[in-house]
Amino acid sequence: AVELSLRPRYLDEYIGQTNAKENLKVYIEAAKMRKEALDHVLLYGPPGLGKTTLSNIIANELGVQLRTTSGPAIERPGDLAALLTNLQEGDVLFIDEIHRLHRSVEEVLYPAMEDFALDIMIGKGPSARSVRLDLPPFTLVGATTRAGLLSAPLRDRFGVVSRLEYYTVDELAFIVTRAAEILGVTVVGEAANEIAMRSRGTPRIANRLLKRVRDFAQVRGDGIITYEIARSAMELLQVDPLGLDSIDHKMLRSMVTAFRGGPVGLDTIAATIGEESQTIEDVYEPYLMQIGFLQRTPRGRVVTPLAYRHLGIPLPDGGDEKR
Ligand code: ADE
Repeated sequence: AVELSLRPRYLDEYIGQTNAKENLKVYIEAAKMRKEALDHVLLYGPPGLGKTTLSNIIANELGVQLRTTSGPAIERPGDLAALLTNLQEGDVLFIDEIHRLHRSVEEVLYPAMEDFALDIMIGKGPSARSVRLDLPPFTLVGATTRAGLLSAPLRDRFGVVSRLEYYTVDELAFIVTRAAEILGVTVVGEAANEIAMRSRGTPRIANRLLKRVRDFAQVRGDGIITYEIARSAMELLQVDPLGLDSIDHKMLRSMVTAFRGGPVGLDTIAATIGEESQTIEDVYEPYLMQIGFLQRTPRGRVVTPLAYRHLGIPLPDGGDEKR
């Protein structure tokens, strides 16, 4: 419940993502002026940047109900039909992980998005026929970490496509300060900044670190999150100054020691460190690439000289010429 209350409920409380926010503000206002459902919205980008939060905000700003589900949760076309026929005019249907929708479910979604219609097959064999049910106009908000995995016909049916970006340190420091206020804990400016710097551009991580640091402040200090408390807490949490955790370190080090820094395939990395390929690809790699520690090449992943320097590992012989 605390997690939910840290989430901003309206656009004015939402920090960062200026581009997505300013655009959505206009589209929401225009839809309200016309008394129409907002066009379908696709939100994509790395996990933890606020896709679910934004879908909540969109529904709140529109003053409509939000229904939430996820791609893998909708197993059969009938499951989607049940959701769609329970919507009221203008409602928002949020489908998280929309790239994981079954093909058969996706096909039901096309006419629903395009014509607010549900095509239902009645009977089997030669006497089978299809009837068309009208749906109330609604807004589909889809979220995915991988827009590239969406089928083209599905992607084309979203009128608004918004890419969420990693947050700046200043934005994250604001978010930490705001969250601390809600949690009723005092955080000094330098501590908020230090937490922000170690949150890998991600509010979800910033808020999680804040809660853990608060625990240390409460038990080891007098409850105030000072710079020293924040620093020592994050050392104990094994979050380094760039926000890399023990898994990032394990991954980069094993690539360096076992594969001379690469190129090495994703599945090989996954098997070597005992993590899921999917998790590495969706959660770990995007940030390592963003900060220039990892490159994707056609022959596999490569650790960059910048990462060697951060890890304090000398470059291999000849590494300078090849890279
Ligand atoms: N908490 C999590 N994400 C946030 C955001 N973008 N703005 C304000 N508070 C947040």
